[in-house]
Formats: sequence, structure tokens, C-alpha cells
Amino acid sequence: MAGAPPFGEDIVLKADEFRLLRDLFAARTGLHFGPESRFSMERRLRERLTVLKLSSFAEYHHLLRFGAGAAAEWDEAVDLLTTNETYLFREGRQLRAFESEVLPRLHDVTRTRRRLAIWSAGCATGEEVYTLAAIIHASGLFPRDVPSDLRWDVNVYGFDISRRCVAAARRGIYGESAFRATTPEQRDAFFERAPGGFRAIAPVRELCHFAHVNLLDEDRAKLLGHADAIFCRNVLIYFEHRARKLAIEALYDRLNPGGVLFLGHSESLLNVSTAFELLHLKEDLVYRKPLAAREPDPTRPRS
Ligand SMILES: C[S@@+](CC[C@H](N)C(=O)[O-])C[C@H]1O[C@@H](n2cnc3c(N)ncnc32)[C@H](O)[C@@H]1O
Repeated sequence: MAGAPPFGEDIVLKADEFRLLRDLFAARTGLHFGPESRFSMERRLRERLTVLKLSSFAEYHHLLRFGAGAAAEWDEAVDLLTTNETYLFREGRQLRAFESEVLPRLHDVTRTRRRLAIWSAGCATGEEVYTLAAIIHASGLFPRDVPSDLRWDVNVYGFDISRRCVAAARRGIYGESAFRATTPEQRDAFFERAPGGFRAIAPVRELCHFAHVNLLDEDRAKLLGHADAIFCRNVLIYFEHRARKLAIEALYDRLNPGGVLFLGHSESLLNVSTAFELLHLKEDLVYRKPLAAREPDPTRPRS
């Protein structure tokens, strides 16, 4: 029929529409979309226009901002535009440093309260969380099946802005590709067969908790309390500069004094923050919140 609006395939993301969507995503998620991302954004979001029977990306932008059901549609868009690549035991060198040098230090710092909290900020489908829990479990430093006066309260919290990822993380069932960096010994020790793949064994699973949290939403992040170590690996590389600074300030505030921050191997705090001190380990270099750091001043303006 002549004059019918085009749906799906035919719709092009125009330059001004790209700018609107790019700015909306940057403001709400911190994610940076350079001009080279225009066509991948068009490809990834186009299916939503088809489903919703919209005839332009401008309409889609309007729906995300003002439409009835904007929050639910926002989740769909975030799922489509985030990069969720991850796997178990990723970056072995860093994990060995965590196991052999960081955990014993954290044990010393936390032993009077017998409580250890580790975060995976931007946990995607949860592999990083189960990996950290497996390492903590195997260390034997934080026993839980002992009389209550000796028992440790250990929690590994994973959070992500993608609801689909958080749901997958909670299921925690992994196929072969998740094990690409896992040794047969690690797989046998920490995983068991389950319908659809493998899952972590109960004493590892029991340490793991997941939440749908935007790293830039400080009020939500505060609900998780404080952390002794934060892994924020392969997340900030996708952020624009200002959002990276805000995220790092938020993570600094959530770390206990003496707590450490792990970034991905290609990431650093150069030009982002000077608040951390560098901790040189045998196998790695991590950022530490000084032991003498004070509680944040809530009236301090954000940079
Ligand atoms: C590439 S994955 C990294 C997963 C894991 N940390 C690793 O290194 O294997 C990046 C994750 O960060 C999440 N992410 C992006 N922006 C976020 C934000 N503002 N708040 C929370 N998570 C975010 C994405 O949804 C994605 O799942």
C-alpha cells in the first residue's frame, strides 16, 4: 500500500538521531559511542523499531525518554548496546596475584570483623563472580563451616546494568566456551554438571549474589555496602572520560580503607584519579585505597 511507513530493514539511523541516542546513552550509562559506532547502533537497535512498529529512530529516542513503558524499553536497549563478553578465570596473572598476595593481605585487614566483601562491578553473565568465589573458597583463609565464633561472612557481589546478564548470572549455567581459560583441575574442583551445562559447586555458589545496578547510580551502589576489593575489568574502556572519572570516584567511596581495585589489563587510572596508591605485586600492579583514607565528605562536589 502506497504511503505506509517503512518498518525495520528500511530504516536508517540519521546523523542527528545518532547524536540524540548517543547523548542519552552517555548520560545514563557512561557508555561512549564514537562516530564509527553509528552503523552498529543502527543494526543493533533496528529490531526494536520492528517489534514496536516505529518508523524512525527519532520516535525510538522519544519513546526511551518519554514513552509509556520507557523503563522496560530502556532495559531492552541496554541489553542490545552493551558488550557482555566474559569467561571464567579470565586474566590468570591477575587472579594469581589476587589469590597469593591480595587475599592474605585482606585477611589480615579484615580478620577482626571476619567479614569479606568482594565486588565485580560490570559482572556481565557472572563468570568473574564465580571465579572469584572459587578462588576465595579454595584459599581456606575464610572458613565458613566452623563454629560461629570462628566463622567468616564472605560475599561476592556481582552487578551489571544489563538485566538479561544479571538473570543469566543468577542461573549460573555455563557452556564450553565459558571454560576456555579454565584448567581441567579448576573445572573438576569448582564445577559440576547441571542441565544445560556446568554450574559452580554449592560452597562456591553460596558466596555469590547478583544485582541489577548501574555503576553511575551511586544511591543503588550504596545499598551493596562497602567492599574490600573491587574488580571492574573491561568495563570502563567503553566509558567516556567524564563517566570514567565519576565511576572511579564512586568505587573509591565504596572501598574500605586498604581495599584494592582491579582494572582490566589494558586499563589504568592515568588522568582519571590520583586518590589511589599503586600496589606493586609480584605478578601484577593494583590500585589501593590508602589505609588512612577518611570517609567521604557527602558535601564534596563531584568532579
Ligand atoms: C565486557 S563486560 C566485562 C565483564 C567482566 N568484568 C570481565 O572482565 O570479564 C562489561 C560489562 O559491563 C557492563 N556495564 C556497562 N556499563 C555499565 C554501567 N554503567 N553499570 C554497570 N554495568 C555496566 C556491561 O553490561 C557488560 O556486561
